[in-house]
Amino acid sequence: MTYTDLLFQLVVHLGLLTKASGWKFAEHASKGGPLGELVQWSDILATLYILGHDVVVTSEVEQLASLINGLPTAFSSCQVRTSIPVDLMFTDIVGLIQFKRKVKNGYGKFSCLLRIIDSFGTEPAFNYMPYAKHHSKSQWGMHNLHPQQFFTMFPHSPDNSFMGFVVEQHLLQTKLASVQRKNQAVVYGKALYMWQGKDSYLNSFKDLLEVHGTVFVNKPSDNILPSFVHNHGILKGPELQQLLRESKVFVGLGFPYEGPGPLEAIAQGCVFINPRFSPPHSSQNVKFFKGKPTRRSLASQHPYAEDFIGMPHVYTINIDNATEVRIAVKKAIAAVDAHEVQPYMPYEFTEEGMLQRVNTYISHQDFCTQLKSPWVPHESVQFILSRAGQSCKSACMQKGRICEPSYFNELNNQAVLEKHIGKTCGSVKYTEDIFYPAYLATQNECLMQKQPMLFSCVGERPDVMRLCPCRDFIKGQMALCQRCL
Ligand SMILES: *[C@@H]1O[C@H](CO)[C@@H](O)[C@H](O)[C@H]1NC(C)=O
Repeated sequence: MTYTDLLFQLVVHLGLLTKASGWKFAEHASKGGPLGELVQWSDILATLYILGHDVVVTSEVEQLASLINGLPTAFSSCQVRTSIPVDLMFTDIVGLIQFKRKVKNGYGKFSCLLRIIDSFGTEPAFNYMPYAKHHSKSQWGMHNLHPQQFFTMFPHSPDNSFMGFVVEQHLLQTKLASVQRKNQAVVYGKALYMWQGKDSYLNSFKDLLEVHGTVFVNKPSDNILPSFVHNHGILKGPELQQLLRESKVFVGLGFPYEGPGPLEAIAQGCVFINPRFSPPHSSQNVKFFKGKPTRRSLASQHPYAEDFIGMPHVYTINIDNATEVRIAVKKAIAAVDAHEVQPYMPYEFTEEGMLQRVNTYISHQDFCTQLKSPWVPHESVQFILSRAGQSCKSACMQKGRICEPSYFNELNNQAVLEKHIGKTCGSVKYTEDIFYPAYLATQNECLMQKQPMLFSCVGERPDVMRLCPCRDFIKGQMALCQRCL
């Protein structure tokens, strides 16, 4: 691993922990509340520190305000950015809103320094203010940043950057290779509401293995768990890993979406039963995603586990079909017994993988300098014409590649498009939407992008073929191209 010789002054403002957010994240941390974001923030803080940067952390608006007020001429509109002794600022959307309020007219100068930790991502359609106002309002969107300034929990839309986190691995007494696994399942769901309506699902395989839970129960009368469930309550990290290590199956209930849990279980050698969603869950049909700045839809509880890990570690099934559930659980048990399932951890979720990724981002991502050529080298990128109706994300994926938005500028060019469609455009139109550049075959019309802020990997329009920038990636470190290190 090479470390950067750029050592930066960083500010990390944890909006989610502020009293002003009203979220009580910290208070609920040991009571089954969401931990994924806190896990990610601790990993980010540790990573920035280990990479050698100077890190100032704020977790209240007042602390942030005094920090900003301490900056020279922070409120003056003619300040220059280089006079500000901060190289980068990491925060979340709540923190970003707090920051904007405090900095007022100095904001524009700072905005290119921001790195926004944003679990589910912000797609370009929701980010660019004039467009979002008409097409895709969201209380979390319309910040007009560069889409790659948003960093997601899992690799979602390639328009954003993938921050990720580190999957915990404790040094336990027992060696992973020598553990005796019991016929035992651990259910993924720390809060009681996640278990509601899931009795018949759990019933259908309770005779195949002992069912364990790690659920927070405030008082006995709240307990709605089926009587056959051995509940341990909330466990500490090492205890949970010991339990997973002695088990064969980790059972998804359908919620929470895309947390670290299944990766921890798979790293301990369990098979993850991943509920399939049909129809897929999105802001169209699920309250959880309503108002979130993404049109992404999830075909299962854990798309990353389904798409990037898969068999033999992950069985994605319809949990409403008892026959299908029993078949999957039996297969999973047999596969573990036959040692066909080995503990597996994708490199991007290891400490080293996270250090490598974040270091590369800090060294190369630059949203302050205009008209610079992309840092992803040309040799790693290929331009591909999608099928009609296909997004660039899926057109690239089909070729084993990832959409690389930093190359949209270069391919938004009539001559380049003509080369890929193999003929001369009958007509050319410059227009603003998330589908362009693209080709409308029925009219022999070439549609070019007028607004660079609307370049999008995920836009798809049924009648147009999109011209897409697709890059290669390192297996197990998909954020980075093969020549990016
Ligand atoms: C349930 O799953 C079984 C096994 O995959 C399949 O044969 C059956 O058709 C499914 N039933 C329904 C109602 O989908």
